[in-house]
Amino acid sequence: MSEESSVERLTEAQAREELARLAGVLARANAAYHAEDAPIMSDAEFDALKARNAAIEARYPALKRADSPSDQIGSAPAEGFAKTPHSVRMLSLANAFDAEEIAEFDARIRRYLGLGHDAPLAYTSEPKIDGLSLSLRYEAGRLVQAATRGDGETGENVTANARTIADIPDHIAGAPDILEVRGEVYMSHEDFEALNARQAERADKPFANPRNAAAGSLRQLDALITAARPLHFFAYGWGEISAPLSDTQMGAIERLAALGFRTNPLTALCDGPGALIAHYHRIEQARATLGYDIDGVVYKVNDLALQARLGFRATTPRWAIAHKFPAELAWTRLEAIDIQVGRTGALSPVARLSPVTVGGVVVRNATLHNEDYIAGRDSRGGPIRDGKDIRVGDWVQVYRAGDVIPKIADVDLSKRPENSQPYGFATSCPECGSDAVREPGDSVRRCMGGLICPAQAVERLKHFVSRPAFDIEGLGAKQVEAFYRDGWIREPADIFTLRDRFGHGLQQLKNREGWGEKSAANLFDAIDEKRTIPFARLLFALGIRHVGEQASSLIARHYGTWEEFTAAMDAACDLQGPDWEQLLGIDGVGEVMATSLVQAMTEPHERASIDRLTARLSIAPAARPDTSGSPVAGKTLVFTGTLEKMTRAEAKARAEALGAKVAGSVSARTDLLIAGPGAGSKAKKAAEIGIEVIDEDAWLALIGAA
Ligand code: IVH
Repeated sequence: MSEESSVERLTEAQAREELARLAGVLARANAAYHAEDAPIMSDAEFDALKARNAAIEARYPALKRADSPSDQIGSAPAEGFAKTPHSVRMLSLANAFDAEEIAEFDARIRRYLGLGHDAPLAYTSEPKIDGLSLSLRYEAGRLVQAATRGDGETGENVTANARTIADIPDHIAGAPDILEVRGEVYMSHEDFEALNARQAERADKPFANPRNAAAGSLRQLDALITAARPLHFFAYGWGEISAPLSDTQMGAIERLAALGFRTNPLTALCDGPGALIAHYHRIEQARATLGYDIDGVVYKVNDLALQARLGFRATTPRWAIAHKFPAELAWTRLEAIDIQVGRTGALSPVARLSPVTVGGVVVRNATLHNEDYIAGRDSRGGPIRDGKDIRVGDWVQVYRAGDVIPKIADVDLSKRPENSQPYGFATSCPECGSDAVREPGDSVRRCMGGLICPAQAVERLKHFVSRPAFDIEGLGAKQVEAFYRDGWIREPADIFTLRDRFGHGLQQLKNREGWGEKSAANLFDAIDEKRTIPFARLLFALGIRHVGEQASSLIARHYGTWEEFTAAMDAACDLQGPDWEQLLGIDGVGEVMATSLVQAMTEPHERASIDRLTARLSIAPAARPDTSGSPVAGKTLVFTGTLEKMTRAEAKARAEALGAKVAGSVSARTDLLIAGPGAGSKAKKAAEIGIEVIDEDAWLALIGAA
């Protein structure tokens, strides 16, 4: 889909940024889901983001982060329960979304095992229960411990709570001496509705979905509460065992059933991908009447000896896969289209929808991207949605995928009101009335009001105080909006005069909603703390179009001090001359960015506002790496193949510290290629264009690290 094609277009720098963003978003989503039982996105969205992360990593393997979401399952255990290590790790499942991926799964296994096309290879197929996994440890037939998955290595000891679940036997007869039974705890739809009704009666917060209700109920510190919540358990696997249960997956499941565990009645044996897909459709058909949530179907190699040979990747078994149901879609009415004005003046249309539940979350708004998108055209003028435009009053299909912001997939023309009109996109700013202009090659229309546009001013202030910018504790988007509305802060410089203007009349701030004496004093202190600010952060905080975090730090490192930088901007104001050339010479600064930067820094009103700000600050110069005597200063290096003595990340960091640039691909601008074992096309290309190629040992010797 479009998500994938956009991965193809990502530059290395964008990919790095995107991986960092995804690591953050996925870590937060993981924590919200596993540790706090309060999901911030649907499973389908989570899967889509994880898939995007994996796709970017596949394209740029060298950029894979040490904290890559691909290597993580679950999240660290929550405080409150005793932690308990799993003797056999509790893993996750790789996901697939269509028959083609299932055929690949089968082909991959055959290749790995050296099995021909026609060799028999059976799988089990069973519903993927949307609950939370639990490991039950039995010793000599007695339940001794129940643990949640936690991060896969260490879970939470929830034994007392698990004992209250009727489907979990306390004693079992005829089992191996040590047996860890693994399965899923879940809540039925009926019990979920009843629980939420009780929550409502007591004015308690309702649970978002049965999964959260099950998680919240199992992870109650008071087992009496768990006992009052009807939870169920399906067994589908095992951890440590002192003797095998069977020699097949199906046999093992039957054995667990014979021992007294509930196993899923829709579990079937299938002789290949065709049969798996047929069973998937049977389960999909049954989904609505099961009475509990499932989010896909799980396939497992039936022969346990083959499972053992196949083993595991980092966090998932090679012998199993989850065939997930597609992201949920819902139809609803488009009530209105609002235009939001961003910090750079971009006019962003937002769909206001009749509230509708999509994948367990109520959706009221969706992004409409830009005027072309509304008109049914892509950025090159080609049709999207078969060219159907979007109009107020239309029935639209909403989906949530990949992004936290819901999107519109389709329009039902048969339900279009007769008198409906094509949406006329504003040509003036709805906030300040200035012209809104769409420049050639730009997909968005922008308000030309600049500093006089209140929407832009507020958005710029929000950006200014945001985490990667000034990051002032106690001064977030909400506070900035309120201060702007009341005229206390109109531009960034005003933040730093707040204490002078109101500090002594602290009373005024105190009287405002949400502020007490202590929080007001804390705010002034937090502001003071940021009076000394690194050059790069200051530049990024200004919110100049096209000048992101990465570029800000490149520019800061190039000029070193703010004074040197502003002098160079002044000298480059005509977009020509040596200072202009020097700016363009910074690797990572193109003409578009340079133009935007010089214009912002030399436009008299903007500059006056910036000068008012910097007069209140002490700007820490950017450290220019001391590369005197470095053999690679100013050179462009490429690493390829496997490095054996240090990780890619470390090699790159050291090269950069020595003043080198590290590129992802070989080009005429490459000075040196460091090739480890397994180097392929890059080494070939380097040889072809006559670039020096050295091995890892020579590289270490060169930088004096041998
Ligand atoms: S097998 C080693 N079978 O899905 C793999 N998992 O996304 C063990 N789940 O952590 C998992 N139904 O919590 C398996 N029939 C089923 C399942 C199932 C639900 C959950 C389980 C797992 C997660 C992976």
